[in-house]
Amino acid sequence: MISEEFPERGHSVDVISIHGLDIRGCKGCMSCRKTGECVQDDEMKGIIERIRHSDMLILMSPIYFGAETGPMKTFTDRLTSTFTEKMPLGDVKAASVLLTCADPEGYRKYDATLKRMLDMVGYLKVGEYRGRIMGGESPDTVRTSPKVRDYLDGLISLIE
Ligand SMILES: Cc1cc2nc3c(=O)[nH]c(=O)nc-3n(C[C@H](O)[C@H](O)[C@H](O)COP(=O)(O)O)c2cc1C
Repeated sequence: MISEEFPERGHSVDVISIHGLDIRGCKGCMSCRKTGECVQDDEMKGIIERIRHSDMLILMSPIYFGAETGPMKTFTDRLTSTFTEKMPLGDVKAASVLLTCADPEGYRKYDATLKRMLDMVGYLKVGEYRGRIMGGESPDTVRTSPKVRDYLDGLISLIE
């Protein structure tokens, strides 16, 4: 739906599927605090460059046993290198976290997960950010849901 709504309003979408990419875990060495760059030479470097040239970062993950997926956690840990003043996230004006789950009560049950991820997004200093959990919706109902459309409209308005 994002790849339809955004282009309809004149925004291109760069989808990065992180599953299976070479993104290694944060070593916690804190070198990036001094240099602004991670000591690890993997696919995260190129991804951060792509994010830097975007207006908005949207993090999407299914809920697996109450949390975001393992690859998404590894990915967000590695965004630490952008928290420093030396290498901030250039053009990014807004960010969003979208989580999906099977449980229709998921928006309530996994609220702590969303809050934790939004706390991390806060460190990116991108201006506006917000998040949502979509529970119990199949890909078909998501596509036609007025609530999802409203949410996306709100997101798009953050960068217009
Ligand atoms: C390993 C695994 C763990 C999951 N854990 C949860 C969970 O804790 N709560 C939940 O509501 N859904 C859980 N799910 C369901 C996924 O969140 C759901 O399939 C995903 O959001 C995609 O939705 P869809 O299958 O309707 O496309 C799990 C799925 C998998 C594969």
